[in-house]
Amino acid sequence: MIVARNNERLKNSRAKLTGSIGFVPTMGALHEGHLSLIRRAREENDHVIVSIFVNPTQFLPGEDLEKYPRKEEADRKICELAGVDLLYMPTTDQLYHEDELLISAPKIRGYILEGAKRPGHFDGVLQVVMKLLNLTRPTRAYFGKKDAQQLVLISRMVRDYFMQTEIVSCEIVRDPDGLALSSRNIYLSPEERQRALALSRSLKRAAKMIQSGERDTRRITAVMRGILEAEVDGLEYVAIVDRDFHPIERIVEGESIILVAARVGLTRLIDNLWV
Ligand code: PAF
Repeated sequence: MIVARNNERLKNSRAKLTGSIGFVPTMGALHEGHLSLIRRAREENDHVIVSIFVNPTQFLPGEDLEKYPRKEEADRKICELAGVDLLYMPTTDQLYHEDELLISAPKIRGYILEGAKRPGHFDGVLQVVMKLLNLTRPTRAYFGKKDAQQLVLISRMVRDYFMQTEIVSCEIVRDPDGLALSSRNIYLSPEERQRALALSRSLKRAAKMIQSGERDTRRITAVMRGILEAEVDGLEYVAIVDRDFHPIERIVEGESIILVAARVGLTRLIDNLWV
């Protein structure tokens, strides 16, 4: 596995890769969720590139940029064992310039739900993903459905800017007890982790209601709120949208996403279910 810490090395190493390229952008602290993306990229492409970069522009002031978990050595080994061909681990000065041109998330979809709670977050995500896709020029790039709004916005960016990469959406990976994997789960104490299960439990309950024929999103979100409010320390939102992030009144199977965001202790968690 080649490790590139600067753009020159990335460019030279990328030039030697022929055939299809699967790309998995990450912020490191790799877990089974990332591994599932890497494995899928491995299966579907001739070569795999992974990036590890804790992108400062997607963190708001006061968020966890400084304390975001960094596990460089372990991540490197994980990538090597997973058969990654090229690992790109740039420093900030390799990716950002002074007074640079900015990318803005769409005015509505980029500023509702996660975008309302973290205004400007998606501008930073799109900015770095655009840079990473231009640098690595992959055939396909792999993103988890856990960050549903991020996934939808990146797909729109690729469409709106006629970029050549195919965006592949991958299933959420969960611990056996249902908790969706996230690098931030390590912030949870054992007691908080138990209460955090309310997120996946509320989504399971929503799935059961839908299976039993319920379609009214207000009734579903009311039941979910009941489950969540008993356990979490701050419920930020429960929402049901279509696949383009328009709020909907009735579930349409195959076209809806149920989303939840809540704080448990000091940790902000998100989860969702694509129905
Ligand atoms: O999902 C993430 O880990 C990040 O938002 C991404 C896509 C790597 C951009 O920094």
